[in-house]
Amino acid sequence: MPKKLKETLLIDAKKIEEAGEGIALAGEIIRRGGLVAFPTETVYGLGANAFSPEAVQKIFQAKGRPPDNPLIVHIAQEGTLEELVEHIPEKTRELVRRFWPGPLTVVLKKKSAVPPEVTAGLDTVAVRMPLHPAALALIKEAGLPIAAPSANLSGRPSPTTAQHVLEDMQGKVEALVDGGPCVVGLESTVLDLSSEKPLLLRPGGVTLEELQEVLGEVEVEDRSSPGEEEVPSSPGLKYRHYAPGVPMYLVEGEPFRVRETIKKLCHENCLKGNKVGILVTAENAGYFQADAVEVLGSRLSPQEIAASFFYSLRRLDASGVDLILAESFEEKGIGRALMNRLRKAASGKIIKAK
Ligand code: TXA
Ligand code: MG
Repeated sequence: MPKKLKETLLIDAKKIEEAGEGIALAGEIIRRGGLVAFPTETVYGLGANAFSPEAVQKIFQAKGRPPDNPLIVHIAQEGTLEELVEHIPEKTRELVRRFWPGPLTVVLKKKSAVPPEVTAGLDTVAVRMPLHPAALALIKEAGLPIAAPSANLSGRPSPTTAQHVLEDMQGKVEALVDGGPCVVGLESTVLDLSSEKPLLLRPGGVTLEELQEVLGEVEVEDRSSPGEEEVPSSPGLKYRHYAPGVPMYLVEGEPFRVRETIKKLCHENCLKGNKVGILVTAENAGYFQADAVEVLGSRLSPQEIAASFFYSLRRLDASGVDLILAESFEEKGIGRALMNRLRKAASGKIIKAK
């Protein structure tokens, strides 16, 4: 039986075959305009009926999200895409056949059925089909597409466990479906296919290299290029993200130099009486004397590192350290998404290892 925690119903869906009753209840909550947090393969989402402006507004309230940052609409069948978007280019069909269900979000010109509250007034809508069985079961049970951002308070690290969702959202959502830890651990790739050239707006679970295999050329939104002050093509790009409560410094450069620089910074800060937390790989963990050490995983396993990033960031944040030092990674494969989130979490505090 689902448990009730301070106005939030906790539904255990770790074993999907045993979760039928709970998922039915969650689907009913979505249908009558309530909020349900649910697991996906990337991060937990905060879901509401995508066709209801009132329901969608509750998401913005619960998260404290700026109203000009649009939401992703989650579907469980490829056919639903046609109800949401004007035209599906052939390349998009190829992409979704290959990557759905999975961590790819496509941005296309929207149909009028999608309310402006979901798209923050844009004429495009972002759509994806998640891979988690509980997410798919919930969308099917609701019988509606579900609009959902990540289920964190705006600006906080994305939640990759049900516990993270409770930390940010307990009492603010009617139900939380617990599907265990998220396997990808970083959000979906957001790809704009609404104009001639495909444009990567946010690197994520599906890599640029995988997209290039299908599409050939893919443009990459680059916020460090001239024109940074222009309105970004994805409103979410301009907001501060994933920020821990204490300053985080990202150390970039050649791996050996990165390690030596972190070691030196640990030492210097220790002498100053600062408590230091570090976010590092298994290979390097033994080199540092720090007050809190979060091991992301082996350098040989970028997937493992990506999957533990938000988890480790939340743990360091709660550990009472004064600052966080983080290792950096090669920007290829999932490493591109990881470095994107690390840079955002550091919000400009990058140290070049010399
Ligand atoms: O993996 C994910 O994508 C997770 C799970 C829950 O599905 N969701 C997620 O949602 O990360 P959110 O709201 O945290 O991020 C959605 C991103 C934002 O950067 C937003 O600006 C962008 O997608 N986006 C949404 N609609 C868009 C649109 N029409 N045009 C351009 N960007 C859009
Ligand atoms: Mg988010």
